[in-house]
Amino acid sequence: MRRAIVRGTGHYLPERVVENSWFEDKLDTSDEWIRARTGIERRHFAAEEQRTSDLGILAGRAALENAGLSADQLDAVIVATSTPDLTFPSVATMVQAGLGMRRGFAYDIQAVCAGFVYALANADAMIRAGLAERVLVIGAETFSRIMDWTDRGTCVLFGDGAGAVVLEAAEAEGASSDRGILATDLNSDGQYRDLLYVDGGVASTGTAGHLRMQGNLVFRHAVEKLADTAHHALDKGGLGPEDVDWLVPHQANLRIIEATAKRMQLPMDKVVLTVADHGNTSAASIPLALSVANAQGRIKPGQVLVAEAIGGGLAWGAVVLRW
Ligand SMILES: CC(C)(COP(=O)(O)OP(=O)(O)OC[C@H]1O[C@@H](n2cnc3c(N)ncnc32)[C@H](O)[C@@H]1OP(=O)(O)O)[C@@H](O)C(=O)NCCC(=O)NCCS
Repeated sequence: MRRAIVRGTGHYLPERVVENSWFEDKLDTSDEWIRARTGIERRHFAAEEQRTSDLGILAGRAALENAGLSADQLDAVIVATSTPDLTFPSVATMVQAGLGMRRGFAYDIQAVCAGFVYALANADAMIRAGLAERVLVIGAETFSRIMDWTDRGTCVLFGDGAGAVVLEAAEAEGASSDRGILATDLNSDGQYRDLLYVDGGVASTGTAGHLRMQGNLVFRHAVEKLADTAHHALDKGGLGPEDVDWLVPHQANLRIIEATAKRMQLPMDKVVLTVADHGNTSAASIPLALSVANAQGRIKPGQVLVAEAIGGGLAWGAVVLRW
């Protein structure tokens, strides 16, 4: 059978770093509160002229370099984003052009913070079905553009950035010892739309809108659903929590990550953490964490990784892969 294996990773973070203390004279909040309730210490914000596609292009270029490939060796580009440059065309086609790729196809996936997990599952299915040999999968976001800067319950949480992974087809035995994506588990439940949404859009207000969230309710769903989806994905892959070398969680809140690891009975030294430095970068958070950990040489060939995320929709899911 065919599997989708990881050939390279890369990321890009905008230059501007904003510490928690930046919010202190604008809002009734403190560095201490933000650290204690979320684990976030700082985040990156894109420059005024930088768009989501610019971040995606830089992350994509870094992943191609890491993979030792050129853009014209790709068959497809998938970008997970909820903060596109324009209503259309897709960010993915802009990234395709920016990378100088003149063949293949490109499209966006919108599953908010679960977007990268959805995109990986999509690319995996595409590769296994023989529709593509090599796919560049990117998570890229500029959530700073949809913040309500007067809402202390949301604007301190999010940041901008992009991460990318190059997936490549490889022949495999169909066993849990194979390299590559072993299993995926996707879920959504639209009845929860009011817990986390943006109050604008093309067909409603004609504006981009601002992010609205009932944080404590999202928190409860996250803790329950993330461990469940991770377990389901492991089960489908013929593995158990004891086989996991690295949990690469969506970086929304350290307390959610700790609760998920605990439910999975994983020690925190098996968890990749970037939330302190990146904040919640939505669909970009998992590929950013993956790329940072890979660049640090922490992920070794043969190791088992579980990536999991939840976001607006609600939409959530997990991917199990062997490096
Ligand atoms: C947002 C979040 C950090 C708030 O923490 P919490 O412990 O749930 O806190 P609550 O929302 O219950 O609010 C507790 C108090 O803190 C206050 N508060 C909220 N944000 C604050 C801030 N930045 N600074 C200081 N106080 C703040 C609230 O107003 C509330 O005050 P009140 O009791 O006077 O009404 C937390 O709910 C969370 O992380 N939720 C998940 C969010 C998430 O990850 N979303 C993305 C998923 S993709």
